[in-house]
Amino acid sequence: MTGPEKVKSRVLWLAMTSRRVDSIQLSGIRKLFEMATSDSINLGLGEPDFQPPKEAIEGVRRAMEEGKNKYGPTAGIPELREAIAERLHRYDTSLQKDNVIVTSSATEALMSTFQSLFQEGDEVLIPDPGFVLYPAHTTIAGAKPVYYTLKEENRFEPEIEELKSLIGPKTKGMVINSPGNPTGGVFSESTVKAISELSQDNGFTIIADEVYDEMVYDGAFTSFLSHAENVVHINSFSKTFAMTGWRIGYAASPDKELMKAISKMHYYTVACPPTPIQYGALAAMLHSQYYIEEMVSAFRERRDVIVKELNSIDGFHTHTPRGAFYVLPSFDFDMSSEELSMLLLKHGVLSSPGSAFGRAGEGHIRFSYANSKENIMEAMRRVREAVQGI
Ligand SMILES: Cc1ncc(COP(=O)(O)O)c(C=O)c1O
Repeated sequence: MTGPEKVKSRVLWLAMTSRRVDSIQLSGIRKLFEMATSDSINLGLGEPDFQPPKEAIEGVRRAMEEGKNKYGPTAGIPELREAIAERLHRYDTSLQKDNVIVTSSATEALMSTFQSLFQEGDEVLIPDPGFVLYPAHTTIAGAKPVYYTLKEENRFEPEIEELKSLIGPKTKGMVINSPGNPTGGVFSESTVKAISELSQDNGFTIIADEVYDEMVYDGAFTSFLSHAENVVHINSFSKTFAMTGWRIGYAASPDKELMKAISKMHYYTVACPPTPIQYGALAAMLHSQYYIEEMVSAFRERRDVIVKELNSIDGFHTHTPRGAFYVLPSFDFDMSSEELSMLLLKHGVLSSPGSAFGRAGEGHIRFSYANSKENIMEAMRRVREAVQGI
């Protein structure tokens, strides 16, 4: 091909991407991540630094050796669906196997749910700051994201009056994330009840992303499954058993018909969740409760260390987050969160700028404390040094 022909063919090829994909951006978190060096201390990533429990690894190995390497049922192997339903009895005792589908991660559960529920003309309420997937999944479904604000002064719980003012005839869904990423906030029972009532009164579905439900350090956790009827609960094995790379999660709802619809979308996305991995997840659920307790206790200790350190550095302020493994301090420095994250990266600490999680995230920076206590202490020393000169 000649030069001009090459250009023409390239232009034609570029024009082939869909409006859907052109309308979404790559996550702002990845940009910094790609600039990190091997000496950087990683407080940027949302994944536990542990390895999965030995029972889970053994479960996958055994399944593979026993020849369980084929396609399985679309909604997941029955034993795992049953174990999940039983686990969810802590929130809703009426749930059975048919209320649950096993998915290839919470990411896929969210995508299949959004695709099954929303379309052009719909509005979906989304937290700001909030996890990066929600706006993109809403847009890809053709619906419009409408943001509600999570403020530090409310310990990152939504204001019910603001929610009421945003609900209209086009509202088809509300995404809730408690315990929250990037906020670490956990919604109180009264907030959960108030939002559940709003969903009943206005006929929209709550998508309750509760992937951090095991990671609550003070007080109780209230699931939306305990109070709402129009709800899809999203969960994952990624965080609970530190198996982010295994890509296994689930969705559950009291509405079995809705689960059948989501399962249809799930079939056309992945056909079925990975078979041997499901046996690993099942083994972890049945035999690795001790593991969750140890991990949560380690995270609680790290949370206390990072909060104390941050509040002792001039210019940072944070309350003590109740859940997940993130802290989202505000800062007084005269710069954007992206500039601050960049400065910290130059001093060897990887963080995530608050602006990557929405407009209301500006003025904040997210640190994940899924790293060792020693690394957290050293990272905080570097942060202190980095901001001293500002
Ligand atoms: C709030 C929240 N939901 C969902 C996910 C995705 O989890 P999975 O690894 O199961 O896709 C994450 C991962 O960071 C998360 O923080």
